[in-house]
Amino acid sequence: MKIIIKLSGKIIDNKDAFNNFIGKLKKLTLRNKVILIHGGGIQVSSWMEKLSLKPKFVEGLRFTDDDTLEVVISVLCGLINKKLVYELINYGFKKVLGLSCIDDKLVVTDIDEKLGYVGKNVLNVNTNLINFLFNNKYLLVISSVGLGKKDNKFVITNINADNVVYALASHLKADKVIFLTDKEGVLDEDNKVIRKLSLKEIDELIAKKIVTEGMIPKLSAIKDMFKRGVSQVIITSDLGKVGTSIVK
Ligand SMILES: Nc1ncnc2c1ncn2[C@@H]1O[C@H](COP(=O)(O)OP(=O)(O)O)[C@@H](O)[C@H]1O
Ligand SMILES: [Mg+2]
Repeated sequence: MKIIIKLSGKIIDNKDAFNNFIGKLKKLTLRNKVILIHGGGIQVSSWMEKLSLKPKFVEGLRFTDDDTLEVVISVLCGLINKKLVYELINYGFKKVLGLSCIDDKLVVTDIDEKLGYVGKNVLNVNTNLINFLFNNKYLLVISSVGLGKKDNKFVITNINADNVVYALASHLKADKVIFLTDKEGVLDEDNKVIRKLSLKEIDELIAKKIVTEGMIPKLSAIKDMFKRGVSQVIITSDLGKVGTSIVK
């Protein structure tokens, strides 16, 4: 199976959750081809604060001006991506490669001007390199910094990692997509995990503001990938548990 895992920055920063993840990932890679796509929202915010910059979000998406973009590139493509590659190598994974969505024009988007340098709609995904590396048994660790098209030129964009998951899952025809986050799944108004969530219910939860902030881009990305034929998607805090599974 081709499995895409979205690894939240919140898991990366939590020692127990991260150790649990890496152990279960090892088992998963014995029988499957796996791609890791990571975020790093809290790490970007914490570095922004160290630099006296103020993080700003609009419906779960980070407003990205010039200074913010420099931090996003440094923290996501640099610090987090390379630390993840190193942790995986140390754990015993043999072939691990870190990439951003800039490299080989992996993901090209248009730009959400009101958010600054934020990639919005996916225009193009170059799966050539990924397929080549996949076939050569690499475990890929991909950061969500890509290219945006502006006046026929490319600019670097901050793409919400959930949107990168959509782009790659739909173009690679992933068999399964796992969103690993800090919550056990999507929570209802009583904070109970919703075990099965239909696409129709997603809109209701957003309209009723039961789903807010970072869960909005996640569920929007999931709706988009279902439209493109990806049909096995879960949101969980633990690779060994199902959490919420999304159904048509
Ligand atoms: N109904 C909901 N169920 C679960 N999480 C929710 C819900 N509504 C909002 N959230 C928020 O969404 C967050 C997950 O999104 P985000 O912060 O972007 O993390 P990630 O790194 O996984 O993308 C949760 O930590 C939670 O605060
Ligand atoms: Mg998020």
